[in-house]
Amino acid sequence: MHIPVLLNEVIEYLDPKANENFVDCTIGQGGHTKVILEKNAPNGKVLGIDLDAKQIENCKLLKREFGERLILVNDNYANLTDIINKNNFTKVNGILADIGFSSFQIEGSTRGFSFLKDENLDMRYSTEITNDKLQITNTLTAKKIVNEFSQQELEKILEEYGEERFAKQIAKKITEERKINKIETTFELVEVIKKAIPAKFQYDRIHCATRTFQALRIAVNGELENLKKFLPQALSVLSSDGRLVIISFHSLEDRIVKNYFKQEAEKGTIKILTKKPIEATEGEINNNARARSAKLRAIVKL
Ligand SMILES: C[S@@+](CC[C@H](N)C(=O)[O-])C[C@H]1O[C@@H](n2cnc3c(N)ncnc32)[C@H](O)[C@@H]1O
Repeated sequence: MHIPVLLNEVIEYLDPKANENFVDCTIGQGGHTKVILEKNAPNGKVLGIDLDAKQIENCKLLKREFGERLILVNDNYANLTDIINKNNFTKVNGILADIGFSSFQIEGSTRGFSFLKDENLDMRYSTEITNDKLQITNTLTAKKIVNEFSQQELEKILEEYGEERFAKQIAKKITEERKINKIETTFELVEVIKKAIPAKFQYDRIHCATRTFQALRIAVNGELENLKKFLPQALSVLSSDGRLVIISFHSLEDRIVKNYFKQEAEKGTIKILTKKPIEATEGEINNNARARSAKLRAIVKL
């Protein structure tokens, strides 16, 4: 079960009122959307987007509850303007993006997002349902990166997207090991990482595979590029006085959001509502470990 992160804060900053329209760019299991739909009744709508068709399917119950007030779209939020136009979704009062992956994808997708489960090294979010069959659409997988990219390319991915201090050593060990045996699963990759780093760092507070897995996930899904494409589109489709709320889970994403908001605030197109990013309370973190790294930033369009 996915518990929506920073739910009260999202509602406080989006401030949904009766009959207003919202876009949830990462609807997931609809935790945030459900509360928005309760607040914007009787005629307000939510356009819910997710790259993973399985998540859109997970929202079927919500669709049954709210009917035409909820529009579900299986697409990438990097195509926001097109999605809005295709669905004639005008007067957008607020946009939410709760970026990354959900606990459903870690627990139930078997696509290798977690280093704690032995699964195929895949990490793609993008699925669509064609003829009742779930198809994974993107062709780049974590397995392809690990087994086919050069040592230099691997090192760059681990350094840039994982800020992994042992990027060089891990990239070198991956290229050595894959000559002997193809690295096919999450556990095989974890073993290679353990061999690459000094023994005393193997049992650090943070699992030694955390940064490598983050880096591969970002690379496979083009996460930073999607975010950069999304931000200007979000501002352009938002009505004046409309609000944009973004929750990110690592510093690379948060930096992109922070810098973009700063640049637009200087141009006078938006007002920043969160001088510092909003973080989860101790109570929420105790209830939902995923909230630990969440950072929420919000703006209003001028
Ligand atoms: C943290 S979850 C959202 C959880 C949701 N707010 C809830 O309360 O259930 C993030 C979701 O974003 C989706 N996602 C990731 N990248 C995406 C993208 N570029 N476009 C659309 N959805 C994306 C993932 O498939 C995942 O379902």
